[in-house]
Formats: sequence, C-alpha cells, structure tokens
Amino acid sequence: MICEAGACAENVTFANSGTEATMYAARLARAHTGKDKVGLFDGSYHGVHDYALTKADPESSRSEPRAASLGNGVPKMIPDETMLMLPYRDPHAFDLIHRHRDELAVVQIEPVQSSNPRLDSGEFLGELIEVCRKNGVLVLFDEVITGFRIEYGGCQEYYGLTPDLVTYGKAIGGGLPVGAVAGRAEIMNGFTGKEGAPFIFCGGTFSGNPLTMAAGTAAVTTMRDQKETLYPYLHEQGSRFRETVNEYCRREKIPAQVMSAGSLLHLIFQSGAIEGQRDIGDDYRSAEARFYLHLMNHGVIIPGIHVAFFSAAHTPAEVDQVIEGFKASFEALREDGAF
Ligand SMILES: Cc1ncc(COP(=O)(O)O)c(C=O)c1O
Repeated sequence: MICEAGACAENVTFANSGTEATMYAARLARAHTGKDKVGLFDGSYHGVHDYALTKADPESSRSEPRAASLGNGVPKMIPDETMLMLPYRDPHAFDLIHRHRDELAVVQIEPVQSSNPRLDSGEFLGELIEVCRKNGVLVLFDEVITGFRIEYGGCQEYYGLTPDLVTYGKAIGGGLPVGAVAGRAEIMNGFTGKEGAPFIFCGGTFSGNPLTMAAGTAAVTTMRDQKETLYPYLHEQGSRFRETVNEYCRREKIPAQVMSAGSLLHLIFQSGAIEGQRDIGDDYRSAEARFYLHLMNHGVIIPGIHVAFFSAAHTPAEVDQVIEGFKASFEALREDGAF
C-alpha cells in the first residue's frame, strides 16, 4: 500500500519509529553515493538519533547557518563534520549544495516543517530536487508527519514531486510504534545487497511486527477507502480554523497567528510574517505557556510541543469549540496583562 501511495516508493522497509527510519535512510544514502555528509534545514526535526539532533546555531548567519548539536551528549564531530545545515526556503541553500556536492550524500527535508507549517513551499521543494539531481545528491522527503496526512500520497502527491527516498512513521502504524523507509529500488537494494548494491546493516526485534502491521494496514486501508472525502475534509477544517483564528487575532490585535498545512496546525505567538523558525522570537514565551493552561479550562488539550492536528473524528462543531476555546484563552491572557 505504501508503494502504491508514495510517488518514489518502489520498495519499503519497516522500522519501529520515525527516528529509526531517518537513521536508516541517511545510512542508505551514504552507502549508495559513497559520500558521508547529510544536509538538513534550519528549523527541521528528524528524530532523536545522534545525526538527527542537529540544529542551526542561532548565532550563525541566516543564509549560511552552522550546524550545532541539539542538547548535550552528541559527539561534536557529528554536527561539525557530518552534517551540512542549510537555510530553509532560501535559494542560497542551492549554492551550498553545489559547493558541497562531492561530500554530500543526501539532503533531507520535511516537505512541511512542523515548526512553521505551510503549503507554499512547492517551488522551493521542486528546485531542491532539480539542484540535487544535477549535483549527484539524493533527496529524502521526511514524511513522518505528512505521509498519509496532507494527502493519501503525502506531500509527494500534494506537490506532484518525486524524491529519491521517503521516510514514514506515525499515521501508518494505526496508533502503534512504527517507521518506514521507502524509495527507488536501486537505492533500497542496499537493505539486502541485491544486484550488487552496497549493503547496509539494519535490524530490530520489533521491526515489521505482525501487530503493528495489522493495525497499520487497517488504518491505511480506511484512509485509502475514504481518501476522496477524508483529505478535502481535513484541509477544509484546518483552513477554516486558521482563517477564523487569524482574522480574530488581527481584529483584536493579538500578537499570534495560526500556521497550518491541511490538518497540521501550529499557533505561533508573533504577528509578523514568518519565513522559517528563525523568525519566531521569544517575546511571548510565558504568555504562550499560560495560553495552553487557559485552553484546558475550555476543554481543549494541546500537549507537548504544541503542534496540533485535526483528525477525521473531529466534527465541524468540535472545530468550532476549539475556535471558541482559542478566543476565550486569548481574552484571558489579555486580562492577565500578557499583551
Ligand atoms: C519529521 C519527523 N521526522 C522524524 C520524527 C521522529 O519520529 P519518532 O518520534 O517516531 O521517532 C518526527 C517526530 O515527530 C518527525 O516529526
């Protein structure tokens, strides 16, 4: 089913998490190209293995960001010598890819960044694939969030683009832990060494376990059978939510905005335009923390890093209830003196 849905997916290998999937995909790309470096974008998230825990050093230049590790305990040589940080939605990334083409195995990108979700990056993604092809660098779409969520065929379908590799997780597990790497057969052969492909080691006690595969198959079957109505519904609710809340914030001069891509939503406490994560300041951090506490008093829980999702189970009336909860929580913050 993954191979039918994903534009670049000729073969698929299962893992237990999105973290494992991105780890295998990078290893596969290194083996296939014989090069060591992995490119990634400022503001991205690809999981918690040592090579994924790379952020842009906030002190470094915006158009030529420097890779630094996220948190302690990651060997310094990983960000310094094995990762290339690229500026997001900035054509300077293409110059950097060209300059580093002899050491760059793959560029990985979330086709929608959960830190600032939006659907207007199609041109940038298309150009990225073109530039990478010209320079002998593979492209990995990390669709751990967007796969089977933005469309049935993920962002590959939404944008009509075909990367070399794709990673999945979350939605394909039907609620159980899962990850998957899929891609062009010639590259994927690395998992088996078939047809002389450079073999990579992979394994995991629970990878592809029958329980997850059964739950995932059931979930993906439901999504496939309902895709004509399911995805338009999710896009409609997400857009309606974003537009209604943003109109309210503009009218009431609340320094916040909802960014969204289909059913994936992120409220950002800033009123100015946002190109990438670097544009998001800290001015309202304490207001933001309190906002989510107020929201709970209105029956809406958005836990963790405050990335939120509508699902097919949310009715339009429940979306309205979330909108009302947002408005009431903004008002409560204003009464608290937060703005
Ligand atoms: C784009 C992306 N890649 C990878 C991961 C890691 O997946 P997991 O949490 O299953 O390890 C995540 C998790 O949020 C993600 O959003």
